[in-house]
Amino acid sequence: MEVGSSTVAYASGKVILFGEHAVVYGQPAIAIPVTQVKAQARVEAGSESQGITIIAADLGQSYSLEQAPPDDALLAIVVSTLEHIGVEKKQETFATLSPGLTITVSSTIPMARGLGSGAAVSTAIVRALGKHFENRMSPQAISNLVYETEKIHHGTPSGIDNTVIAFEKPVYFIKNQKVKIFSVKRPFLLAIADTGIASPTRIVVSDVCRAWEREREKYEEMFDEIGTITEMGRQAIERGEIETMGQLMNENHRLLQLIGVSSPELEGLVEAARQGGAMGAKLSGAGRGGNIIALVTQETRSRVEMMLRLAGAKDVIVTEVG
Ligand code: MEV
Repeated sequence: MEVGSSTVAYASGKVILFGEHAVVYGQPAIAIPVTQVKAQARVEAGSESQGITIIAADLGQSYSLEQAPPDDALLAIVVSTLEHIGVEKKQETFATLSPGLTITVSSTIPMARGLGSGAAVSTAIVRALGKHFENRMSPQAISNLVYETEKIHHGTPSGIDNTVIAFEKPVYFIKNQKVKIFSVKRPFLLAIADTGIASPTRIVVSDVCRAWEREREKYEEMFDEIGTITEMGRQAIERGEIETMGQLMNENHRLLQLIGVSSPELEGLVEAARQGGAMGAKLSGAGRGGNIIALVTQETRSRVEMMLRLAGAKDVIVTEVG
């Protein structure tokens, strides 16, 4: 590669339609990509002696591999991708890689809001490095690499975020099983509304884990119920039964409340969406903060969006699924 030549790749955000949290305990979940928000990674060939420089543009940070702390997620994904591609290592690390690389990441996906920002940034990096080194990677190979980095962000991730983002398709996901892509019979619209509150997945997932350890039977029953709702949700999507989907979203939200991952802000947005005419609404992702999703139609979308903004939503995106 010539010095200065550059390669760019992107990755979309995601939302979970059904099954968050229960998916960590082996139940199915459904997630879809959200293409309105994206992470970007640019790889530029540097000088002979430069090694690797990572620029996190949104955070105003720039560091070389040697300066990065060992648990740095960007460092981890860069190193594991270069290893996967088989880029020659020198002196035990890529710090002296020659010719060097500058990797610049930026993202329009708000962080810690359930939209998969961490997995999307990692996916964009893997794709950009793959393109740069002319190494074609399957979505599954990309997902596997990103999963390892997700452990740094999340502790015990189910793997759904890296899967939906790497495959860029609606997925029906069960931990440790081959991903299932399913068909959407009738396209539908989702309004995604942001509480503006950052809520790290790692913390919420570990709180749920502690609650499950205290009251296993109760929590497992709730996870089972969520699993059943998710399965019914998949059937409703495949059959184009949109009203049923809305009811199932409401049911799923009720169980997430019982699990203890809702918050007054999330409740406010869910209520506002329903009052605005949404066919169903629920929190999406880890909860406590982040986003809610609401099932809307062309007729109800503007009213729902207005109600969500009046109720304090910091942002509302409407996305079509299918
Ligand atoms: C996070 O997007 C979804 C959770 O179920 C965690 C996970 O699946 O790893 C809360």
